[in-house]
Amino acid sequence: MTIKNVIFSLFILAILAETVFSQNCMDTSCPGLKECCSRWGFCGTKDEYCGFFCFSGPCNIKGKSYGYDYNVDAGPRGKIETVITSALFDSIMSKVESNCSAKGFYTYEAFITAFKSFGAYKGKVAKREIAAILAHFSYGSKSFCYKEEISNERYCSKSKKYPCEPGKNYYGRGLLQSITWNEYYGAAGKHLGLPLLKDPDLVSRSPEVAFKFAMWFWNRNVRPALYLGFGEITKRVDCRECGNWRRDDTKNKVKQYIEFCEMLGVTPDQGLDC
Ligand SMILES: *[C@@H]1O[C@H](CO)[C@@H](O)[C@H](O)[C@H]1NC(C)=O
Repeated sequence: MTIKNVIFSLFILAILAETVFSQNCMDTSCPGLKECCSRWGFCGTKDEYCGFFCFSGPCNIKGKSYGYDYNVDAGPRGKIETVITSALFDSIMSKVESNCSAKGFYTYEAFITAFKSFGAYKGKVAKREIAAILAHFSYGSKSFCYKEEISNERYCSKSKKYPCEPGKNYYGRGLLQSITWNEYYGAAGKHLGLPLLKDPDLVSRSPEVAFKFAMWFWNRNVRPALYLGFGEITKRVDCRECGNWRRDDTKNKVKQYIEFCEMLGVTPDQGLDC
């Protein structure tokens, strides 16, 4: 075989691997904090996973660029409390149906307090980023209807640093219910000064903790990719959504992002699809 043929065969194999064997992190995301989910659906820490083909997790995106107007961090900016006033927040929440378990749970006060507890949001924030955050929060909680995932999975992985508490489950809670696994709860708790490993239900008991938990993840794994566009950050939030079998989910999320951009009076970036 010539080199060209070898490369071509590898390419075909890679596509087959994606369609046949995609599983693993495309279903449950990677358990380890340092693990990335590769485009082919496997978890690892090396460059094959965290480099150019990284799909989600702590991807190394240095030097990656799409050009064009793909920057969620660009455009008009403002302070969080002036971009999202309590009236606007309440009008968003008024659409939550009364039979939702989270009806009335996500409050404006908790939202603002959580934002302000992160250095990155103390000053002026790009309106596009706020629209993106709202789109992902809305999507991640099924339009602010749920406080936690309906799941029997434990999402407990072996970890020296953040061992599971007996009887506790680390499935998705709060606004980004794609945040799962004990290491994520452990690291978030450490950062926020909260006992989330011992008591993960704190996220679904306190709206402030719920917002902080989601913002912690956003700051850590999503924010570095803002300049690559909305599609790219969607992968960082939840790689499952970008699989071929969930295209409708992707479309809905893009629709929500565009709606929130309109609400805040900004044009969305152009890199919408993931
Ligand atoms: C609430 O009620 C609506 C309309 O009856 C229904 O479509 C929806 O699934 C319900 N939601 C929940 C969380 O039960």
